[in-house]
Amino acid sequence: MNGHYRIAALAGDGIGQEVLPAATRVLDTAADRFGFRLSWTDFDWGSDFFRAHGRMMPEDGIDQLAEHDAIFLGAVGTPGIPDAETLWGLLILIRRSFLQYINLRPVRSLPQVHSPLEDKRPLDIVIVRENVEGEYSEVGGRLYRGRPEEVAIQEAVFTRAGVSRAAQYAFRLATERQGTLVSATKSNGIVYSMPFWDEVVSEVAAQHPGVAWRSVLIDALAAEFVLRPQGLDVVVASNLFGDILSDLAGAITGSIGVAPSANLNPEGEYPSMFEPVHGSAPDIAGKGIANPVGQIWSGAMMLRHLGQPEAADAVEAAFEAVLSEGLATKDLGGRATTEEFTTAVITTLEGQA
Ligand code: NAI
Ligand code: MG
Repeated sequence: MNGHYRIAALAGDGIGQEVLPAATRVLDTAADRFGFRLSWTDFDWGSDFFRAHGRMMPEDGIDQLAEHDAIFLGAVGTPGIPDAETLWGLLILIRRSFLQYINLRPVRSLPQVHSPLEDKRPLDIVIVRENVEGEYSEVGGRLYRGRPEEVAIQEAVFTRAGVSRAAQYAFRLATERQGTLVSATKSNGIVYSMPFWDEVVSEVAAQHPGVAWRSVLIDALAAEFVLRPQGLDVVVASNLFGDILSDLAGAITGSIGVAPSANLNPEGEYPSMFEPVHGSAPDIAGKGIANPVGQIWSGAMMLRHLGQPEAADAVEAAFEAVLSEGLATKDLGGRATTEEFTTAVITTLEGQA
């Protein structure tokens, strides 16, 4: 046995209840093949828990999660409960409590997954999103509610430590990849925080002379993602810009159902969290047709983070092989159910040995 990892599993709401168990089966198969063990602890936190207890997780929820080597999350969110409640009561709370300051979102063309930009294949981009500060801040307030003079103020918070560690991570990643990096900015319109972002990023760039980098205004960068995405390798962005760019990037590769993400505490001081980019998809929940690729790929990222890169590569190769054969769920134009697709991935993974 070359490793034993304790994983907190939070399937959450909607299709999270379908794709998370599917992905854990795939990861257990990889563990068997590569000689390590995953011990899963299931947590039933999410919208039902909220309805019963008035909160998304118990008061000591963060302490319970801290006992684990990693967190594997499906999706949270349900019609009838404000999204801000589900997001801040669970996802954002976990990201901030565990200093998961990097949100890593790889975007890659997959076999038989057709892109609206078919002539732009193949795409291979990693978005490094700053994940704990920036525009998503708790600083601000509202005054004079409901009156004509009502005011809402929301402050963006950018710190030297926060920008610098995100940039450091991104430049190191670029060194391991194609050696090119784009930093998303808006220093022409946002005159304090974004010039500060640019300054800190250039200081970090100076420590990585091997990386060719440029700073691009977010509006122009959005256009570049559509017009010339093949030239993009690592993209580093603030919390808001990174959030928007990663949905855009997911859309140009084909389906939101395949996009993975990792919320990383790179120092390993706290558990990191791995989750698909998609949400709980209430429109298809319970039908057994959700695409499990985003969850399985997030699981591969988790194995890589835990120190099992070969198992991670094998899992990615297995779902790519299944897609190559033309098996796919409905969102990709196929007819396979979640169960059929997952079983095919497991069979492929076992057969690779
Ligand atoms: P969504 O990602 O759940 O769904 C958007 C569209 O993509 C829907 O038509 C859905 O059927 C489809 N889709 C998503 N994942 C799919 C998959 N794996 N296979 C096949 N089709 C898939 O986003 P939406 O509808 O904006 O949000 C629904 C709920 O999810 C909301 O409550 C929202 O707050 C929450 N949400 C949670 C996230 C998270 O837990 N990280 C992220 C995004 C949304
Ligand atoms: Mg988003």
